[in-house]
Amino acid sequence: MSLAARFGREDSTNQMETTVPTTKRKTTATRRAKANSTDAIEILMNDHREVEKMFKAFEKLRKGNGDDEAKRELVDRACAALTVHTQIEEEIFYPATRGVLRDAELGEEALVEHGSVKELIAKLEKLQPGEELYDATFTVISEYVKHHVQEEEKKMFPQIRKADVDLDALGAEMKQRKDELEEENGPIEAGSEGSATTNMGRNSGQAHRRTAH
Ligand SMILES: [Fe+2]
Ligand SMILES: [Fe+2]
Repeated sequence: MSLAARFGREDSTNQMETTVPTTKRKTTATRRAKANSTDAIEILMNDHREVEKMFKAFEKLRKGNGDDEAKRELVDRACAALTVHTQIEEEIFYPATRGVLRDAELGEEALVEHGSVKELIAKLEKLQPGEELYDATFTVISEYVKHHVQEEEKKMFPQIRKADVDLDALGAEMKQRKDELEEENGPIEAGSEGSATTNMGRNSGQAHRRTAH
């Protein structure tokens, strides 16, 4: 199953189509158009919204004492999504846009923030739901990511948007790489010990494979 399928994008879209009134259909269509965009920044922002949904769902499970299997399935999907997202940023988006950033330190800070999230994901891989620090570790990951997303969307992306960057060409390349990575990841079976570790570990060693564009 693709990561997109695991995120439930297709399912939620279909459900909305059958139940929403006409005015909301327009919104759905607009969202779908954005989801199909090859604009590099829109691709990244769509990913941000998807993981934010997963963070909210985890909070609900945590508050409602949700069962461990549901937590693991959600956490695995979120970590896999974050791993692919950070990888396409590091391999393609950041190198291609570094030169146009007015604040050069934004790019470096982003890499440090990615590093912190990766370390926490690696720690989480060694824990099981129900174990001490499992929930707390994922919550801290979500807090770090939310901060990082703000930095990207409020500071980095506007600077890139103003510059002369072919965001459609860049996005097309990112989309292709994302598909490859999602294909390589393969299915993450909920509850099977170590499966997410294997998938995420495979990815994390590949960061910075492409260094210049
Ligand atoms: Fe991002
Ligand atoms: Fe990022």
